[in-house]
Amino acid sequence: MSTKKILVLLGTLILAVAVLSACGAQPGPAGPAGPAGPAGVAGPAGPAGADGKSLSAADLSCTTCHNDTNLISGKEVTWARSVHGSGTANAYAGGRPECTGCHSSAGFNAAIAAGVPNSDPQKTASANPGRIDCRACHNIHKTYTGDDWALKTVAPVKLIAVDGTTFDGGMGNLCASCHQQRTAFPAAKDGKVSVTSTHWGGHHGPESEMLLGVGGAGGVVGKPASHATLVKDTCVGCHLGGAGPDANHTFTPVVATCVACHADAKSLDVNGKQTEIKTKLDTVKAALQAKKLLDKNGVIVVGDYPEAQAAALWNYLLVEEDKSEGVHNMAFANALLDAALAALK
Ligand code: HEC
Ligand code: HEC
Ligand code: HEC
Ligand code: HEC
Ligand code: HEC
Ligand code: HEC
Repeated sequence: MSTKKILVLLGTLILAVAVLSACGAQPGPAGPAGPAGPAGVAGPAGPAGADGKSLSAADLSCTTCHNDTNLISGKEVTWARSVHGSGTANAYAGGRPECTGCHSSAGFNAAIAAGVPNSDPQKTASANPGRIDCRACHNIHKTYTGDDWALKTVAPVKLIAVDGTTFDGGMGNLCASCHQQRTAFPAAKDGKVSVTSTHWGGHHGPESEMLLGVGGAGGVVGKPASHATLVKDTCVGCHLGGAGPDANHTFTPVVATCVACHADAKSLDVNGKQTEIKTKLDTVKAALQAKKLLDKNGVIVVGDYPEAQAAALWNYLLVEEDKSEGVHNMAFANALLDAALAALK
């Protein structure tokens, strides 16, 4: 290689090193910021905000019921006067596990919640059982809306004491849950039936059986009354005057309801029929006293009696404890009392 060529190569190398070392040098400090760019376009308008006024009572569902009418207070007053609100059986039976399902709101609700018959004895009973009050019949304060007026149950009721019979009378099913017999007429032994206590019988309030014409003894069988088949909502139709805000919470039937069908009814004693039954009840009572199944005060005498006589006592109690003096089912009431009289001859 000539000296000239070596010099050229060397020169090129020096140049390259100089260029490379120039590239590796630290950058100088940043220059001053440029002027701000132009403002962007404005976005679309947002949705309108809520009104500034404060919440009023009318916005709450509470006022469906709690308002300045007598909707609630009127029911409280009439209910308090009713036997549901004032009867003495609650204090005696409301807190007893085998009675609470019919004699208190707590027990009735417990049975519905557990899906068992309300006549089933419960494990315990509340120490503060409540009466047959608003909360026995209505859903009060479950949803805090008007839905709370809905009735606790209107399901058809399989009668406890009469096999294979169901009471199905619209809203009256609520009432039938409790107003029914608890026991059936006992089987005879050697032709005799034991009357075991002074409280013997199917239990107070056998109105469901009376309306359907069942629950009698000694082969007396009736038919469902027109009052069971024609009156809308059965018990509720006559005893509350029907549905809605004016439903009568004394639970006492009023003549105004009867007039729809018995145009010239002036009292509940339509055609004097209640008076007839009262007289007949007195006649049967005297016959039961003569045979010493009832004492002179009308109290049951415990003992073993011929089946036909025990059946007469049973049938008398069915009409007497129904307390409608036959109105619920006039034909059946007459049949029961006539059979009793015949058996006691
Ligand atoms: C479906 C009707 C109804 C609705 C809706 C209703 N209530 Fe009541 N409320 C009642 C009845 C009935 C009573 C009990 C009256 C009685 O026991 O004599 C009652 C009782 C009360 C009592 C007295 C305490 C108690 O529990 O017995 C308060 C307080 C009360 N409600 C507040 C409210 C509030 C607050 C709302 C709304 C969030 C509301 N209620 C919605 C019917 C309703
Ligand atoms: C949870 C059970 C239960 C329900 C449901 C019920 N009742 Fe009662 N009812 C009773 C009890 C118990 C008594 C007796 C209370 C007492 O003497 O302390 C009674 C008493 C009555 C009385 C008064 C009887 C008398 O001796 O003067 C009438 C009338 C009545 N109920 C009608 C009805 C009607 C109508 C319904 C349906 C809307 C109804 N009941 C729903 C349990 C109930
Ligand atoms: C299947 C429901 C039911 C059961 C269970 C029940 N009762 Fe009753 N009881 C009623 C009804 C309904 C009445 C109200 C009947 C009427 O006045 O027409 C009533 C009324 C009474 C009365 C009042 C009688 C009067 O004329 O004043 C007494 C006392 C009573 N029951 C005691 C008891 C006892 C004690 C038990 C438990 C061993 C019990 N009951 C279980 C439904 C029931
Ligand atoms: C056709 C209308 C009608 C129907 C339906 C009806 N009742 Fe009655 N109920 C009466 C009349 C009327 C009386 C007698 C009231 C009187 O004489 O003061 C009565 C009496 C009663 C009594 C006794 C009340 C007292 O003051 O001694 C009870 C309890 C009763 N009914 C419950 C019921 C039940 C429960 C049902 C449904 C299973 C029912 N009733 C269906 C009209 C009716
Ligand atoms: C024995 C059962 C029973 C009891 C106890 C009871 N109610 Fe009722 N109530 C009814 C029945 C049955 C109706 C009619 C139901 C219907 O129209 O859907 C009714 C209707 C009402 C209505 C009208 C509801 C509407 O839809 O317009 C009000 C309000 C009412 N009850 C309030 C009360 C209050 C408050 C209490 C307690 C103080 C009470 N009830 C106790 C059975 C009962
Ligand atoms: C939906 C219609 C209807 C209503 C409401 C009604 N009844 Fe009746 N009632 C009848 C029919 C139908 C008969 C059967 C008539 C017959 O067999 O001769 C009857 C029969 C009777 C009987 C027997 C009459 C007899 O001569 O044997 C009496 C008592 C009675 N009703 C009283 C009442 C009372 C009290 C009320 C009101 C609380 C009432 N009824 C409401 C339809 C009704």
